[in-house]
Amino acid sequence: MRVIKLFFYSIVFILFFACKKEEVATPIAIADFSFYQPEYFPTVAYTFKNNQLTKARFELGRSLFHDPILSSDSTVSCGSCHAQAHAFADHNVALSKGVGGTLGTRNSPSIANMAWSPAFMWDGGVNHIEVFSASPITNPLEMNEDMANVVSKLNRSKFYKNKFKEAYSVDVITDQKMLQALAQYMAMIVSADSKYDQVRNGKAVFTSSEKNGYQLFLSNCASCHKEPLFTDFSYRNNGLDEIPKDIGRERISQNVSDRGKFKVPSLRNVELTYPYMHDGRYKNLSQVLDHYTIGIKQSGSLDEGLKNGIQLTNSEKEDLIAFLNSLSDYSLIGNSNLSQ
Ligand code: HEC
Ligand code: HEC
Repeated sequence: MRVIKLFFYSIVFILFFACKKEEVATPIAIADFSFYQPEYFPTVAYTFKNNQLTKARFELGRSLFHDPILSSDSTVSCGSCHAQAHAFADHNVALSKGVGGTLGTRNSPSIANMAWSPAFMWDGGVNHIEVFSASPITNPLEMNEDMANVVSKLNRSKFYKNKFKEAYSVDVITDQKMLQALAQYMAMIVSADSKYDQVRNGKAVFTSSEKNGYQLFLSNCASCHKEPLFTDFSYRNNGLDEIPKDIGRERISQNVSDRGKFKVPSLRNVELTYPYMHDGRYKNLSQVLDHYTIGIKQSGSLDEGLKNGIQLTNSEKEDLIAFLNSLSDYSLIGNSNLSQ
């Protein structure tokens, strides 16, 4: 009897966890390979036009993204600097190491929700997701590879020959198809299941601290870090330097009034993407808030709204950080469909 009882309980136990597991592992970005567009998100910038979304293409992109074959000495993959566990950003390092350990000049951002981004890079230097990957592949500080050489390496691989044939019906792999497959994978990295989203969807409630933080966020931060993507995609100078070492947007526009302006980064998953700013100068969110309260540097291109800094008490800072932490999306980092 006892044994039977035990057996019964263990079945209940297993079933309970099996169900629980399924609930946690539900893919949020991929429902039978359609693109997931949360209804309160704006219209996407990338529509897969001329590169129709399919499972085979997405999976090919996922293999390429995680494969160091794209770098000159086969040591660095896209995933080396954009790690799923950190919402596809690098972490703990201000600047990422490329081939041969060379350091880049900017912090690796999260690449969640790129389908909504009208331009890429901290200075907006690349404007299409389907050409984007040529940039890290050929950058000497990142993958240091030559496009023709990557393509010939892929053409020598039986695995990729088959995958490209299946995905794009081609016998010879081209750089265009490689870039398109990578675009499919990146565009499918959708982050829309943080506590913030669950609150919006009526599935969770904020604590009083988070709620207060949200109000502070709306009045002090949302003019640039606009909901629900937490960026308005504009280029702004948020007062990091009087004389910036990296001129930012000016590099692209050649306009002095853009000196030290950078693309407003999304704050989704910000808890996981430390350190912060285009050069990774701040280790944690407390340092970021100290910057906005007492660290603003004046200059000609400093954003109007930040000229006097932002006034926040210590307890307001705590609430603001509690709210920022509610933007972490654990379904995203645990989504096995996006994993290698
Ligand atoms: C050595 C580290 C490194 C590697 C490898 C790397 N990246 Fe990046 N990635 C970065 C950095 C740093 C930036 C920001 C660069 C800038 O703004 O100048 C960036 C920016 C991006 C962005 C733009 C994000 C935005 O918000 O504008 C995307 C998309 C991206 N990378 C995708 C990729 C893909 C795809 C690959 C592989 C083909 C790749 N990265 C390889 C470090 C890396
Ligand atoms: C005037 C526009 C503006 C306002 C207002 C603003 N920010 Fe920012 N924020 C930016 C820009 C631009 C950057 C990127 C600057 C850079 O790296 O050079 C940034 C960067 C950040 C980062 C770093 C993100 C990362 O991934 O590196 C955090 C965190 C942040 N802001 C939080 C806040 C908070 C919290 C508030 C309100 C207290 C706020 N910001 C108000 C424009 C703004």
